[in-house]
Amino acid sequence: MRNRPGRNDLYELLAEGSAEASKPIAAALLETLDDPRFSNLRGALLDELYLLPGGVVLEVGCGPGVLVDRLHERVTSDGSIHGLDLNPHFIDVAERRAELLRIKNSTFSVGDCHELPYRNEMFDAVVAEKLLMHVAPLGPVIAEMQRVLVPGGRLVVTDYDPYTIMAAGPDPAVTARVMASAAKVYASPLAARETAHACREAGMDVETVRGYLQVFEDADIPTVAGVPEVWSDHATAGRQVEPGTARRWLSTVELAAREDRFMIAIPYVITVATKP
Ligand SMILES: C[S@@+](CC[C@H](N)C(=O)[O-])C[C@H]1O[C@@H](n2cnc3c(N)ncnc32)[C@H](O)[C@@H]1O
Repeated sequence: MRNRPGRNDLYELLAEGSAEASKPIAAALLETLDDPRFSNLRGALLDELYLLPGGVVLEVGCGPGVLVDRLHERVTSDGSIHGLDLNPHFIDVAERRAELLRIKNSTFSVGDCHELPYRNEMFDAVVAEKLLMHVAPLGPVIAEMQRVLVPGGRLVVTDYDPYTIMAAGPDPAVTARVMASAAKVYASPLAARETAHACREAGMDVETVRGYLQVFEDADIPTVAGVPEVWSDHATAGRQVEPGTARRWLSTVELAAREDRFMIAIPYVITVATKP
């Protein structure tokens, strides 16, 4: 599939796999719709897009289309919503979701963000949530996003920083080592820190760079249940810690949950840039 330099990422492997393999991930992404930690983050992204009725917006790495209804509220039926994702199984779900919501002015396409299949200056705004951490290199992707924006158009991007995830319970130094190892499975684990620089390099004006902290204080919240296990597996896959260290880290997180001390915090960076 790939004919460009850069690192493989778990989402690229998922896109090449079966629909069955993508199903639980699509379900987990859709589950975030009911969680205020995600809806507030998305509300902040949507506000920064400055969309008006009649606007034309692109979501890159749209997954199963979690933003489509809220984008529709802003551009209304007079505008249009475009979603692009590498994973054809996610795009199928996004299309079904738009159909169920009776949104007629949305178009979803399978494609790679390194070569956006859109003409120059087509969009008033481009948004990407948790995309850039999964792609490398970043520069050409930002250049593509800037190419498809109208002059004055807005790019709003967010990723979390896997290196600075907090977890109550385990020794913080061990958490840092486990997270640093888990970060190796992402194509661009430093995306949250490097997006603003990549935007400037692409010739964009960076308007704001700010943070958003997602705090989970209950291990049973659907959007965080199972996540520490995934990080522990990623840490082992990242080969920077022994599997035993990752397992012990996980059991201290689980112990904290049993003792009612569970807390995981995930720091996001939101970058807003405009095309001059
Ligand atoms: C963590 S998911 C986020 C999905 C969605 N933005 C959300 O917040 O629910 C990352 C998404 O980026 C997509 N993706 C990864 N690499 C991509 C690429 N090179 N081009 C387009 N999409 C890509 C994945 O298929 C996946 O849907």
